[in-house]
Amino acid sequence: MDGNGRWARARGLPRIEGHRRGSNAVREALQGCRDLGIRYLTLYAFSSENWRRPQDEVSGLLGLLATYLKKETAELVKNRVRLRVIGRPQDLPENVQQQIRRTMEKTAAFTEHTLTLALSYGSRQEVIEAIRAYAREVAAGREDPDTCSWEVFRRYLYTRDMPDPDLIIRTSGESRLSNFLMLQAAYSELYFTPVLWPDFTREHLFEAVEAFRKRERRYGMTGDQLRDASTPAT
Ligand code: IPE
Ligand code: MG
Repeated sequence: MDGNGRWARARGLPRIEGHRRGSNAVREALQGCRDLGIRYLTLYAFSSENWRRPQDEVSGLLGLLATYLKKETAELVKNRVRLRVIGRPQDLPENVQQQIRRTMEKTAAFTEHTLTLALSYGSRQEVIEAIRAYAREVAAGREDPDTCSWEVFRRYLYTRDMPDPDLIIRTSGESRLSNFLMLQAAYSELYFTPVLWPDFTREHLFEAVEAFRKRERRYGMTGDQLRDASTPAT
């Protein structure tokens, strides 16, 4: 969700105003996913590196997050959307953690749609935490390194109970992953758009999904193999 700062600057507004407008775009995106039958939406709302921003911007962003959740909880419940968090929510201010817990509790039973917020999230940190947890299991005799596979290791990631993303959209013209779901993105389709996040509407989401649908996902195979596999054997 990139481009809030530039959106604000272009209008002579403080950066936090861009973030505020960005939270409206979240509602659009979530609604768009529901319309399209997309069951998992993951938003990179605050990275493990975003702590390096000026302190007032960090507290402004996290304050907005708490306000957003408080305001939207009823809507999430109405639309049967479960809230999840990946990253290190334990690093967030206590009042923000409380609001996250409240919203998660109220939406815990829903299975149709999942909104995941990546908060204080970074892929490298996620991998290090996974390795630590895995190593502890090895030391306790509950895991055997000789049988470690991707299927085993992925159970130690924050995303253990989520599918890998099919499509990753980055707004604002940047062409980077910036430490977002790097292992989970192994076969994700990447979509880059110049649209700044506060301007990102449902229609922009539909365009991205349309572009995704036209792509051929080969997973290391040839195009011919895929076409043969989809032709019923006679
Ligand atoms: C939002 O956009 C990103 C976060 C929520 C941390 P930015 O704040 O990075 O906006 P730009 O890149 O300055 O335009
Ligand atoms: Mg940015």
